[in-house]
Amino acid sequence: MTDAAPQKTTFKPRIFSGIQPSGGLTLGNYLGALKRFAEKQNEGIETIYCLVDLHAITVWQDPDRLRQQTYEAAAAFIASGVDPRRSILFNQSQVSAHAELGWIFNCVARLGWMNRMTQFKDKAGKHTEQVSLGLYAYPSLMAADILAYHATMVPVGEDQKQHVELTRDIAQKFNHDYGVDFFPVTEPLIEGAATRVMSLRDGTRKMSKSDPSDASRINLTDDADTIATKFRKAKTDPEPLPDSVEGLQDRPDARNLVNIYAALADLTPAEVIAQYGGQGFGAFKPALADLAVAKLEPISAEMKRLMADTAELDRILGDGADRADAIAQPILDRAYDIVGMIRSRARAR
Ligand code: AMP
Ligand code: TRP
Repeated sequence: MTDAAPQKTTFKPRIFSGIQPSGGLTLGNYLGALKRFAEKQNEGIETIYCLVDLHAITVWQDPDRLRQQTYEAAAAFIASGVDPRRSILFNQSQVSAHAELGWIFNCVARLGWMNRMTQFKDKAGKHTEQVSLGLYAYPSLMAADILAYHATMVPVGEDQKQHVELTRDIAQKFNHDYGVDFFPVTEPLIEGAATRVMSLRDGTRKMSKSDPSDASRINLTDDADTIATKFRKAKTDPEPLPDSVEGLQDRPDARNLVNIYAALADLTPAEVIAQYGGQGFGAFKPALADLAVAKLEPISAEMKRLMADTAELDRILGDGADRADAIAQPILDRAYDIVGMIRSRARAR
């Protein structure tokens, strides 16, 4: 949006991503985000993962449930393979730099940019006068999450692409307006066969934890029978699977199931079609259900175990927040200096 000068500073590669603890996590969160967060730990790049509780309250959250969902999300990260020693794992509200830098970015982002955000339009629907101001400002807080760490890469599902692009615009406008090369222009990482897992009831809509129909999604806490039933009842068409991936083009429900199978099995959709092409859903759905149960059951068992010890989860999130704060606070301080704020308190923060 801004035609800023090309970046001269080389930023250390650093990965940041976040998930809202606003409900139980789904297979979409697992394949689009958690599974990939765990894989990113093996690439020799620092990884920072955040439960974005401040984002969650942009829509009403019952306080006790929010706490419970935050524990559940922390457990889901760890059960999916995010190691709190190798990655920084914490909840957003424990590191004040997010909210503070978010305010600065509210003063950088333009209303015209915010008005283009499709997630806001989807979430607000017809009630644009009734939703919170926070829901509207949400993407600028997300930019603060990312840029408070000078993160260079953000693994997300397809639905977050526009927000990462806004983050780039905010970084460039800040750099341009203040004549600095301070914030990196972050890259979204949208990779794999399941960057957009669709509803099991409607292959044209995203699988979401907020869908009123529980049959539309697989929850990470679903037991084996529930998973099998949901896949058995998943919407499909009467045709057998095609012989090539091109044949899936106009068959969103079938394509979704093939993509889910591919992502769970670490195959490409073409490899799945090579195996199942020509077969009917009577054969494919049970195979998919078995695979999903085999992959998800150990995760849900480990989540249960972790959630039984919230004191340990508190310790992990507290330790993560200390490590996150040690990175973010000096970056926030420099941002305040650039903007022209006096920082004269003697007590070191
Ligand atoms: P959210 O649940 O909206 O906080 O999303 C957390 C992460 O999961 C983001 O990276 C999303 O892009 C990803 N995600 C959520 N739903 C899906 C989905 N249906 N398919 C793929 N990725 C998803
Ligand atoms: N907006 C993201 C979502 O709903 C969650 C999120 C908040 C996030 N801050 C982030 C994702 C920073 C990546 C980086 O999915």
